[in-house]
Amino acid sequence: MDHEQIEKGANLIRRGRLVAFPTETVYGLGANALDSAAVALIFAAKGRPRTVPLIVHVDSIEMARGLSAEWPEAAEKLAKRYWPGPLTLVLPKQARIPDIVTAGIGTVGLRMPAHPVALDLIRSAGLPIAAPSANRFGELSPTTAAHVRESLGEKVDLILDGGPTEVGIESTVLSLVGAGPVLLRPGMISQREIERLVGPVGLAGDPGAGSHPSPGMHTRHYSPSTRLVLVAPGCVPESGRGAYLGFAGELSHPVAKAVWMPMNAAMYASVLYETLHRLDREGLDWIAVATPPDAPDWMGIRDRLRRAASR
Ligand code: TXA
Ligand code: MG
Repeated sequence: MDHEQIEKGANLIRRGRLVAFPTETVYGLGANALDSAAVALIFAAKGRPRTVPLIVHVDSIEMARGLSAEWPEAAEKLAKRYWPGPLTLVLPKQARIPDIVTAGIGTVGLRMPAHPVALDLIRSAGLPIAAPSANRFGELSPTTAAHVRESLGEKVDLILDGGPTEVGIESTVLSLVGAGPVLLRPGMISQREIERLVGPVGLAGDPGAGSHPSPGMHTRHYSPSTRLVLVAPGCVPESGRGAYLGFAGELSHPVAKAVWMPMNAAMYASVLYETLHRLDREGLDWIAVATPPDAPDWMGIRDRLRRAASR
């Protein structure tokens, strides 16, 4: 992408407008994180309740430190190892971040994205950018510029097209607010990898994990409009027309469409949403997804599929 497009985006951000941009995980719907009127436009465009906090995207550890009231050693270690990358750190916030960004809670989710367009946009704007996934609330996240256009269309002032995203599911969200780190949303940087660096990581909801508010994580989310069901390998519903998403093997009944997915978690995540977006346009009665392995690298994928299947 030429720098002129990014400059145009940066100008819009500085003027309080909305710009959709690629990150390595999914596309984000961005606004100046320090401008509460601009951030209000994000909630309106998505139809998102004001009770769900936004992630603030930064271009450096230095910018993150300027937005958080505390920067513990664990934050330094994790940021040094995983930024830029798909890891969001929840920390106490500084007062300069407007309450609307964080849904009124005293903490902020910070992340330095690994996509060159995202980094260039933040640098050119010279501002932290608040951005949720660039889709209407509750829908599947966008992994291409076309997905953003279909979901939000005219509500966005500019969509920067950086091609399909690589990681394919949203970042891991880790709280560093309490006594020990707590995983609020699993992602492709796994709990195990984080533990290797900073010791034991609790899970939100665990007794002993303390109270880590995780607004927005308890609602139905990440869903295609076609009914999604999680099934044992090969076991598809008997009635209706549907698609099966799984690994090679026998099916209990014939299906309208079978999609064989990669057995590698990173490769699976990378194509999951694009595959669901595509199948969602086919007017099927259901999409049956074989439950992925119960293994550490699949935790983020299993989480998204469970949410997509709950209604
Ligand atoms: O990969 C991603 O994280 C993408 C790209 C665009 O960066 N963003 C994304 O944002 O998925 P969003 O808004 O769709 O999801 C953000 C989630 C919220 O639903 C909430 O669960 C959690 O992150 N979150 C954000 N700030 C938080 C905070 N201060 N405390 C607890 N949870 C927070
Ligand atoms: Mg989202």
